[in-house]
Amino acid sequence: MEPEDVGTELAEVLIDEQRLAQRVAQLAAAISEDYEGRPPLLVVVLKGAVMFLADLARAIPQSVEMDFMAVSSYGYGTASSGVVRILKDLDVDVRDRHVLLVEDIIDSGLTLSWLLRNLAARSPASLEVCALLRKRDALQVDVDIKYVGFDIPNAFVVGYGLDYAEQYRNLRCIGTLAPDRLPS
Ligand code: PRP
Repeated sequence: MEPEDVGTELAEVLIDEQRLAQRVAQLAAAISEDYEGRPPLLVVVLKGAVMFLADLARAIPQSVEMDFMAVSSYGYGTASSGVVRILKDLDVDVRDRHVLLVEDIIDSGLTLSWLLRNLAARSPASLEVCALLRKRDALQVDVDIKYVGFDIPNAFVVGYGLDYAEQYRNLRCIGTLAPDRLPS
């Protein structure tokens, strides 16, 4: 879906398709260099990171494994609470694996903080994070993120995997919603 297809519901294109592609290629190059000789296991949290994963993984010039988790936050509305329930766990055992957690967005950081504690308890050989977007002003906890695509303002963003009420995930760019479409 192109920005024009969203029409007036989209307030602004924050990151267009070309900038996304350029940054994803840079991240993939850095990851591939850092993980030379020790292939990472890409751990992905559904659903928002799926588009990012698909592009990132294909830009890495070595074979990587991927596995998926689904979690549900007990938070209300659009805010995360940090209390997380696993809906679908990983299929593989991450013990002694080089785990790279791939996330679409770090907002409060509460989900990530919980995930990192959960994964660290499984004794991976290493554990790092690659997040496409980070809202620096919204962070409530100190989380170490090795690879960050873009630092963005504290606005509600959609597209490239990110949704509002399950809509707009297939938008090619990342944008902000018009005020009358925003969650109250
Ligand atoms: C998003 C995102 C992170 C979390 C970040 O997932 O993928 O997991 O929110 O928020 P936090 O930093 O405030 O904890 P979401 O719950 O929207 O699910 P989705 O990926 O299926 O859209």
